[in-house]
Parts: sequence; structure tokens; C-alpha cells
Amino acid sequence: MVTPEEADVVAVHGGKPLIGEVGVRGAKNLVTKAMVAALLADEPSVLSNVPVIRDVAVVRGLLEAHAVSVTDTAPGELTLDPRGVKSAHFAEIDAHAGSSRIPILFCGPLLHQLGEAFVPDLGGCHIGDRPINFHLDALRAFGAEVEKSPEGIALRAPKRLTGAKVELPYPSVGATEQVLLTAVRAKGVTELINAAVEPEIMDLIQVLQKMGAIISVETNRTILIEGVDSLGPYQHKAIFDRNEAASWAAAALATKGRIFVRGAEQLDLMTFLNVYRKVGGEFTVGTEGIEFRHPGGELHPVVIETDVHPGFMTDWQQPMVVALTQAQGQSIVHETVYEKRFGFTDALVEMGADIEVYKEGIASITRRVPRRPLEQAAVITGPTPLHGANVRVPDLRGGFSHIIAAVTAQGESVVSNVGIISRGYEHLWEKLEGLGASFELRG
Ligand code: EPU
Repeated sequence: MVTPEEADVVAVHGGKPLIGEVGVRGAKNLVTKAMVAALLADEPSVLSNVPVIRDVAVVRGLLEAHAVSVTDTAPGELTLDPRGVKSAHFAEIDAHAGSSRIPILFCGPLLHQLGEAFVPDLGGCHIGDRPINFHLDALRAFGAEVEKSPEGIALRAPKRLTGAKVELPYPSVGATEQVLLTAVRAKGVTELINAAVEPEIMDLIQVLQKMGAIISVETNRTILIEGVDSLGPYQHKAIFDRNEAASWAAAALATKGRIFVRGAEQLDLMTFLNVYRKVGGEFTVGTEGIEFRHPGGELHPVVIETDVHPGFMTDWQQPMVVALTQAQGQSIVHETVYEKRFGFTDALVEMGADIEVYKEGIASITRRVPRRPLEQAAVITGPTPLHGANVRVPDLRGGFSHIIAAVTAQGESVVSNVGIISRGYEHLWEKLEGLGASFELRG
């Protein structure tokens, strides 16, 4: 008997709609950053609504490697005490970082607390090059010395970091967080131009404001940060995971089901909901969450362009592509954020989907998002019945889409490398079981 945590392979018996309720908790992409923010304080902070996912465990391990004590003070609640913080050994950082990109965000706080920081080779999902040049350029602008070696990057702040004018070439989520986590305790004012304004970033700003930071979000993607000498602890409930909510919404559509997503909120899903409606999906917004339904009739094709917030998020396209294989006609998905995020479609094609990936994107006069040099497009022609196949999960979001495709497909699918999905989906197997999916986990 394999426990859900150990499972690496799942055999799915598809062809049944997913019906029922799932709850979503705090967003992976806020919780992990708020945990790092606790490093900036002089007293313990308390973070609640923390999901049980592997990325949280990775950040916890990294904090503990730096002698920050992390305690489970209640279910879903962590107390993070940075009072003993000290430098970690390279081997420890490397061992904990695994495939996560979070270590890069430790730089600013560690430079403030210890005057030095070390970043190992960065992993994350294999969805493009995922460089860190914006991060390093910003850290240099604050006065950090950056030295690259084969193992990683060593940073030093011989004197207190100072506020800077930073203009990002692209509104990168991670680089915006980097600047926020560094500028709050730098001397003087930082002007961040072309910042990302994702809801998780706004939530991080709320965390930092609770700690004593002075941050104003101006118009036109400009953020001003007035550095302060020290920061106190925070108590915060993490914003809900809109990516998980959108994943379940798409699962309801693909499998002809009906899922109530407890904890989902309308405002941060507005762009997703518009697309959902255009495809023909139905939803009802309630006070406790949102119910997502297949309409019963045909689904319609759509054109989607992924973009930074408030656009259609790149993490929403993979599960939606599964639903679009069931729509009547030709849909186009332009991926403009990452240069390699359609690898997951190979498995869908093996399951019977008609998807063609254009590596250079498709020009069109009706495009809303300006074309980026690295973009690609996928053309999905439906409806195509899906059938079982043996497939391998390439990354987190692609992995969720494979599971949904396997549940949609007639017959048995064997999906391997599913452990990666637990980086970002809490209690995935329990939730799927509760929705009526039929599967068995293997080691
Ligand atoms: N980029 C650079 N240089 C940099 C940083 C980014 O060229 O220094 C480029 C990237 O290569 C990419 C684009 O900028 O083409 C956007 O990257 P961004 O920095 O915004 O992404 P990220 O911070 O690495 C976070 C989420 C991703 C999510 C993106 C976009 C976390 C831990 N990850 O990544 O989430 O897709 O923002 O919203 O917050 C996921 O949850 O599975 C996931 C991949």
C-alpha cells in the first residue's frame, strides 16, 4: 500500500465526471514568499492558511538550515522565529533547495541580517530557461557584490544596502518580490518601475506593511518603497490559491462535472472567469466559494493569450487546454510568459487530442498582448474523445492537466512522475477521490 506522499505512479480509470467539493488554502506563490519575509523581522511571525505542499517543506528546510525555527503551532499555521539566523553551509542549502527557485529570494533578507548570502544552482519546473538576471541586476543596484562560481552565486553586502531606482525589463513576479524583500530595509527610497502586480505580490506587500514597511503601489506598475531600519513580526492569513482554484474549475469542465471550490474568490479570478464563460462553462459565485459546472451542451473554442496580471495567467492554460480538447472547433493558446510551456501537450496528443504546437507563436492583428520573442502557440481542435495512455508528468501544472486528461479519458491511463504535482497541490489524491475519480497509487 503506497501512501499519497510516496506515490510516483498513478493508474487512472477515466470516463467519469468529477462532482463534489474541494477546498483551496493559501497560495503556494504567496506562502513561500511570506515565509522568507519572516527572516526580515526581529521577532517570530505567524502565518496561517498554509497548505501541506512540498514547496512549503522546501522553504521550511531552507529556513531551518539558516537556524530559523519553524513550528507548527496549529493546523495550517506556522510560527517562524528568525532570532537565531545564521549562514548555512553550501551543502545544506543545496540539499534543501532541490528543484525550487525560492533560494534566490533569501538574498535580500540574508544580506540585511548577515551581510552575506549564497544561492545554489536554481531548479524549478522545466518550462524555459528561467534566468535570474533581473534578480542579480537589482541586487547589484542596491549595492550587493555578486560573485558567480560553478556551485552557485555568493553575495556580500560590505555595508548597508541602499535604495535604488530599478526598472525591470519585464514585470517578473520573482524579481518584483526580490526588490520588495530587499528595499524594505535598505537605506533610502527605492523606485521600482515595471513591477509585477499579481494578487500574491499585493498580499506580500500587506505582509511587509504589517511588519512596518512603507510601500506605496502607484499607477502604471510603479512601486515606491521607503526603507526602514528594522522590521517587526507579522500575523497573516495567506491569500487563497487562485491557480489551484482555476485548475479544479477546468477539471469540472473537462470531465463534464460540477465542482464547488471552497475558498475561491471572484476578484482574483476575474480574467479566468471571463474565459471560462466564453468557453461555455457555468459558475456561481457564493460567499464561501465558487461552483464551476459543465453546461451540459457543447463547449466553444476560444483564443487565449497568457500574460502577467491582470491578464490570463500562464499557470491557468494547462488545465484549460484539457477542457478545450472537448470544445467544438479550433482554439488557440498563445503562451507569452515562458518559452517552453507546451511540453505537456505531447501526452494529451497520445491520449487522442488534436493539438499542434507552433514554436514561434502565431502573428495576428487581433492580438491583445504584444508578441514576445520566445512565445509559442498551441492550436487545439476539438472535440476529440480522449483515451487512456501511458504518460509522464513534465512539470507541476502540466502534471495536473495530465491527471485531468486521464480522468476525462475512456479506459486506463498510467501517469508517472506524479510526485512533482505535490509541490503545489495539497491533498491531491484525497480531493480527487472525494470528487469520484477512480485510480490507484503506486510507488
Ligand atoms: N525572467 C527573466 N529574468 C529574470 C526573471 C524572470 O528573463 O531574472 C523571465 C522568465 O524567464 C519568464 C518571465 O520573466 O519568461 C516571467 O518570470 P517570473 O519571474 O515572473 O516568474 P517566477 O517568479 O519565476 C512565478 C511563479 C510561477 C508563475 C510565474 C508567472 C513562484 C514560485 N512561481 O515564477 O509559478 O508561473 O511567477 O506568474 O511564485 C507554478 O506555480 O507552477 C509556477 C511556475
